[in-house]
Amino acid sequence: MEKLIEAISGRRAQRAFARREVPEEEQQLLWRAVSVAPSHGNVQSVRLLVARSSAALKSIAAALSDGNRHWAAKAPLLVALGALPEHEHTDSYGEERALWSFHSGIAAGNLMAQATSLGLIAHPMAGFEEATLRNAFGAPEEFRILVVFAIGYPGPIESLPEDLQRREESKQKRQPLNRLVAIDRWQKQNEFPARNTSQSQQDSGKLES
Ligand SMILES: Cc1cc2nc3c(=O)[nH]c(=O)nc-3n(C[C@H](O)[C@H](O)[C@H](O)COP(=O)(O)O)c2cc1C
Repeated sequence: MEKLIEAISGRRAQRAFARREVPEEEQQLLWRAVSVAPSHGNVQSVRLLVARSSAALKSIAAALSDGNRHWAAKAPLLVALGALPEHEHTDSYGEERALWSFHSGIAAGNLMAQATSLGLIAHPMAGFEEATLRNAFGAPEEFRILVVFAIGYPGPIESLPEDLQRREESKQKRQPLNRLVAIDRWQKQNEFPARNTSQSQQDSGKLES
C-alpha cells in the first residue's frame, strides 16, 4: 500500500488548471474529507462556501487579490473555508487559543490530502477580501473565512505567464527536519526561520526539497 507521506508530498500549490469539471462524486469526497476532521467537543464549526455556478465563481473571484485572480479564476471550483467561532466551547479553553482557526486548518489539510489523492489541485489562498467574499455569498458576519481554495485538474502550464510557469516546475522547498522537530529539548536550530527577509538569499539555498 502507498504510504500516506508519498501521497501527501505529491501535493503542490499549482496554478495551471485544465478546462475540465470536477465530477459531483469527487466533490462529495472532498466535502466528506472535511466533515471527518476532528474538533474540540465535536463542535464542527467549520463551513465551506462552494462556488460552482458561473455567477458564484465570478463573485468569489472578485474578492481575490489581483495576483491570485488572474490564474485562480480559471479553476472550475472556488471554495472558501472558515468557521463560526460562536459555535466553539471557549469556556473550557479560553478565547485566546482560537481553536476555530485550528479546526479550519485541520479541515483544510484533510481537503488538500483528499484532493491530491484524486489527482486534483487544491491551491490555498490567503489573498482575498474577507468581507467582500462573505457578502458575495450572503454569509453572516460571524462567519470567519481563513482560506479560499482554487480546485480543479492540472492543465497545461503554458497557459500561465512565464514567472508562474517557473514556479509550477520548481522543486518543493522545505526546511530540514531538525529545525522542525525538537527531541527531548528545544535546540538552537529550532529558532531558525525557514524564510526570513534578511537571510532569504542564504537561507533559500539550504531548504530541503
Ligand atoms: C494558508 C495559505 C495561504 C496561501 N496563500 C496563497 C496565496 O494567496 N496565493 C498563492 O499563490 N499561494 C498561496 N499559498 C500557497 C503557498 O505559497 C505554497 O503552499 C507554498 O509556497 C509552498 O509550496 P507548495 O504548496 O507547492 O509546497 C498559500 C498557502 C497557504 C497554506
